[in-house]
Amino acid sequence: MAQTWGNFFFSLLDYKTEKFVIAKNKKVGVLFRLFQLTVIGYLIGWVFIWKKGYQETEEAIQSSVITKLKGVDLTNSSQFGLQLWGAEDYVIPPQGDRVFFVVTNYLVTPNQRLGYCPESPKVPDGFCTNDNECVEGESVLAGHGVKTGRCLNDTGTCEINAWCPVEHGHAPVEPMLAKAENFTVYVKNFIKFPKFGFFKSNVLPITNSTYLKTCRYDKDHHPYCPIFLVGDVINWTGYTFQDLATRGGSIGIGIEWNCDLDKDESHCNPEYSFTRLDSSENSQHSVTSGYNFRFARYYNDAAGQTYRNLFKVYGIRFDILVNGKAGRFSIIPTVINIGSGLALMGAGVFACDMILLYMMSKSSFYRETKFEAIKKKQSERESREQRERKHARHHRHHHHHRQDGRHRREEKPTAEMQPLTSILTQANNNPETQTQPSAASALKPHSPERKPQATVSFRTHTTEKHTVSPVSTLRAARHQ
Ligand SMILES: *[C@@H]1O[C@H](CO)[C@@H](O)[C@H](O)[C@H]1NC(C)=O
Repeated sequence: MAQTWGNFFFSLLDYKTEKFVIAKNKKVGVLFRLFQLTVIGYLIGWVFIWKKGYQETEEAIQSSVITKLKGVDLTNSSQFGLQLWGAEDYVIPPQGDRVFFVVTNYLVTPNQRLGYCPESPKVPDGFCTNDNECVEGESVLAGHGVKTGRCLNDTGTCEINAWCPVEHGHAPVEPMLAKAENFTVYVKNFIKFPKFGFFKSNVLPITNSTYLKTCRYDKDHHPYCPIFLVGDVINWTGYTFQDLATRGGSIGIGIEWNCDLDKDESHCNPEYSFTRLDSSENSQHSVTSGYNFRFARYYNDAAGQTYRNLFKVYGIRFDILVNGKAGRFSIIPTVINIGSGLALMGAGVFACDMILLYMMSKSSFYRETKFEAIKKKQSERESREQRERKHARHHRHHHHHRQDGRHRREEKPTAEMQPLTSILTQANNNPETQTQPSAASALKPHSPERKPQATVSFRTHTTEKHTVSPVSTLRAARHQ
């Protein structure tokens, strides 16, 4: 019992290594090498070089955007006369947001006062033929005021209590602020990758104030100038200023930061892209295109009465969208990617095994060589026989124990005649004699003999059954 436990603990210290079967099959061999090459190519080319799989990445970019517009335009409208538009007038809201609106066209209704006037003929709910249709106190649906109960015959609409006169007319077909094309947008963008503690701004440190006063962004000549011409931005989206300015529209300015922090900070630079966000085919006629809203400016006249100017403004809404990711070398993704590449190699082994063992004309031969079935009953009987034969041999040894090792080698052919299965069972019964003959020999006197028996008989077994060249099998055995 104590000996069994001792053997068990000794066997724990054994190192087990796999035994390989080498198939001299060029087709599967070439296939496997091709597969390995593909996996290595994928791992190095795609995963490591293209996708930078050795890097830890951060996509949660933190950013702040500040904008400032410059430029003035003088407009002249029939109802309103001359009006000077500065950035404080045409940029809404004026505080320099990430999203801002630039007025390019407008319709003004000046000097509105609270009072009674007819509803606009554009509002369907305001139509009437007699007073009964204008219920007093009811507001006009999608209209401008509250009905007074009178139907006005000359317009065919109800009289309402509202800011009068109500808005009428259409926006000019040419943009009122034609010079908006030449307004400049100065975009300041500050970004941070918190994981790497990295900060940067799109106003690069090399730029000085005189450069900033004169430069205009251009993809080829001034890719890092943070000042954009409104007209250029619209052109880069594939539209013209005229397309958007009359009815309004929405433009996205993308700022993309793709930073490889293994390189110098000066390689981490913004890339700008421009797109129209409200795009639709033949946008000039589509009811969904365009962007407008109304606002009013209130005044008091000399008598203290309030009046207002109502503006319906059309314009271009700019959205500045900041995106980015940064990567820096890290050991963990590197190891994970190498590991998954090696696992893919395993898939190749599996596929080639399947082809070799089931899809080739000589598959049954390879199968028999690779898989060794152990039949329990037979093996029990045979191990008994084995024991008996061993006993007999032992006996013989006593008789001829003075003879040299040459005689011992001559014994082997008798062992080779044994079926393969019996030897395997024998080997399984005594694993330590298989793997560690030198250590086992100290414990058991007969084990050095048994080890060569097992390997030699395996070789001859295959040689007898199939015509595998002995040289190749020997080479295979030596390879181990
Ligand atoms: C905008 O500026 C360019 C060049 O300075 C000029 O040719 C063009 O006429 C200007 N556009 C408008 C609408 O003023």
